[in-house]
Amino acid sequence: MKEEVNVGLLGLGVVGSAVAGALLEKEAMIAGRVGCPVRLRKVLVRHAGKERAVSPSMLTLDPSTVLDDPEIDIVVELMGGEKPAHDYLLRAIQKGKQVVTANKEVMAKFGPEIMDAASTMGVDVAFEASVGGGIPVVGPFRLDLLANNIQQITAIINGTTNYILSRMAKEGIDFDAALKAAQSRGYAEPDPRNDVEGIDAAYKLAILATLGFHARVRPEDIFTEGITKLTAQDFRYAAELGYTIKLLAIAREVDGQIEARVHPAFVPLDHTLASVNGVFNAVHILGDLVGPVMFYGRGAGPGPTSSAVVADIIDLAQRLHSGSVMRPPVPLEKTKRLRPVEDVESRYYLRLQVVNRPGVFAQITRVLGEAEISLASVIQKSETDSGRIAEVVLTTYEATEAAMRVALRALSALPVIEEVSNVIRVEDTSRPARN
Ligand SMILES: NC(=O)c1ccc[n+]([C@@H]2O[C@H](COP(=O)([O-])OP(=O)(O)OC[C@H]3O[C@@H](n4cnc5c(N)ncnc54)[C@H](OP(=O)(O)O)[C@@H]3O)[C@@H](O)[C@H]2O)c1
Repeated sequence: MKEEVNVGLLGLGVVGSAVAGALLEKEAMIAGRVGCPVRLRKVLVRHAGKERAVSPSMLTLDPSTVLDDPEIDIVVELMGGEKPAHDYLLRAIQKGKQVVTANKEVMAKFGPEIMDAASTMGVDVAFEASVGGGIPVVGPFRLDLLANNIQQITAIINGTTNYILSRMAKEGIDFDAALKAAQSRGYAEPDPRNDVEGIDAAYKLAILATLGFHARVRPEDIFTEGITKLTAQDFRYAAELGYTIKLLAIAREVDGQIEARVHPAFVPLDHTLASVNGVFNAVHILGDLVGPVMFYGRGAGPGPTSSAVVADIIDLAQRLHSGSVMRPPVPLEKTKRLRPVEDVESRYYLRLQVVNRPGVFAQITRVLGEAEISLASVIQKSETDSGRIAEVVLTTYEATEAAMRVALRALSALPVIEEVSNVIRVEDTSRPARN
């Protein structure tokens, strides 16, 4: 039983500064909740000489000052990136320290190994802030939802892309203008690739799917497509058809296999996720006992993220104080396999530029029919090039990814198709599949 719990931070940036601030300002409240004082002792940074929110005596540039100090009970990793964060986490575990991290990249790539190493050492690793910032979602998976077989996770888990897509939907602007708006408000990095290409969302989905399905889902197992090809026209057609467009992270169990994908999708306007706008995130979970539950809130930012990190510190400190630290990880089921993306079924929206003459629809329908894809709706829109070219929008019933790839190749080869301008999946579980 500890009568005082000492904390070492690795990183004092956006999140680290907020965590340090909360630990210092809320010291009395935290001590009351834990039952003993929780003291911030040391903080690792990379650059000397920056103005910092903590006393200079706490700062160090040497990781061993935190990792090898026997007085430090909890190491909190808030540096980000794979290296050296991954090595430092393992070193802290080997030294018998409890660990808290907000690092989605490391937990997505190495989470199960890290949990195993912690289990061997009889310590715990808490990572609530690695997905959804301040939204409680890791905790519910590790505890409250354990009685369920999880059927599906559908999430909006990247605030940058959700902000961009919300602006595009609301203002009819194109991707580049919406990205600039996000950058000018500090919601997108100067190099936004990790967010707009869906990589960040795939890291978070790997963590959620591994927790939810008790099966190893790696970031590279996740089919990932970003939002850069979306245009103002796609949003106009989506609205006309009763949808909006969101970057969805979806994982579900189908025939004993795990399907995991991140891509833009048409979402019906009456679906709960359609009203998650701006930088907000939401994780919608379907469990066999609980039914649908949704967690909603701010998925990033110093306040929400420090809320999750400090809660993890309080939880570990309570357990250190009471002498019952270990919460063994739920073993992973080794038999569950990842579903190949070619087998994934979805409805589709296609926007095509076609030569404006009779018989074109018959050719399109024939190509889709040969790939066993049925049309659900067709809209012919604005003519361009003095009426020579027409824009055509189709939606299909459920088709496999493999069938759609075959159909797209055949469509692109038709002389009457000038261009396949966009292809977007339609996530519409409320409507019946083709029979
Ligand atoms: N920002 C958010 O809203 C948010 C939300 C959820 C999760 N997260 C996660 O939280 C973590 C931290 O994010 P952040 O936004 O706070 O990052 P950040 O502002 O870039 O801060 C990183 C901190 O780590 C230190 N650092 C980086 N590499 C280091 C190294 N090799 N050795 C020593 N110190 C090093 C930096 O030191 P210097 O100060 O000396 O440069 C800085 O203090 C990341 O894993 C991120 O994914 C962030």
